Amino acid sequence: MTRPSLLVTRRLPQVVEAQLAASYDVALNRSDTPLTPAEFREAIQRFDAVLPTVTDKIGPEVLDVPKAQTKILANYGVGYSHIDIEQAKTHGIAITNTPDVLSECTADLALTLMLMVARRAGEGEREIRSGVWDGWRPTHLMGTKVTGKTLGLVGFGRIGQEVAKRAHFGFDMEIVVYNRSPVAPEILARFNARQVRTIEELLPLSDFVSLHCPGGAGTTALIDGPRLDLMKEDAFLINTARGEVIDEAALAQALMFDTIAGAGLDVFEREPRVNPLLAQCDNLVMLPHLGSATQEARRAMGLRVLANLNDFFEGKTPRDRVA
Ligand code: DGY
Repeated sequence: MTRPSLLVTRRLPQVVEAQLAASYDVALNRSDTPLTPAEFREAIQRFDAVLPTVTDKIGPEVLDVPKAQTKILANYGVGYSHIDIEQAKTHGIAITNTPDVLSECTADLALTLMLMVARRAGEGEREIRSGVWDGWRPTHLMGTKVTGKTLGLVGFGRIGQEVAKRAHFGFDMEIVVYNRSPVAPEILARFNARQVRTIEELLPLSDFVSLHCPGGAGTTALIDGPRLDLMKEDAFLINTARGEVIDEAALAQALMFDTIAGAGLDVFEREPRVNPLLAQCDNLVMLPHLGSATQEARRAMGLRVLANLNDFFEGKTPRDRVA
């Protein structure tokens, strides 16, 4: 029996590539450079399955083909706002993602950003590396205490809850939640959290605001100028979700005019390009989309993709089917 053909668009951990190759007729992208739209178009017409990542923009440009050979886009990653679901559906293409296995590591990174920006760790590191540190002094790089502060979470799915766990039990923080749908009282009770009805209500209450909602059209520029104005002057904004959720020009302005105290970003509107205004802000910590970047999470994500592919080609509904 011929094995289904599979294109893997980026390099994956070795063990994952080996396991995929054991079951599928795998084409690897050895150069590890993002596919061009033309290459993706060709792939959709040639491979039974494609394993894309966030660096593949799968919109009308690549999905507008006479006939797709691809039956499943088994996305490597939990977020799938880079895939035009409606267009994929017109070809009957199934879509899966990789939830759960990266929630802890992404939450760890949100806490990393909170601590780095509040304690001015990026500024301190830059100071040492540039050789200008002139020793301890009582007023040097004074930051903001994290313990005991109020954390506002926008989105309270799996990652939001992992952040709440760390912040509440590790840093004694008070948790306030905004979520589109009501959160079960027993889940809120785990973190002694309370849910508010609007983002407008959450922002002025929070010392830290951390974003954990999906990206895509529904949340583009969710945090815009007027909403940044609702944050406290000494509050920090953290984003490990998707870049488009923040209006970056408005954020740069808020950081430059100190209308908020600082921000920590792991994701950007036009990755890998970063708005040059942001790079000028000292009260900003930036990381290159590292949320799930641990050996453990990246391996587990790959194995989850494999399980989804196996289910699909065995005629079962994949556990992580999102469309
Ligand atoms: C995710 O899993 O969504 C990460 O951001 C990588 O795409």
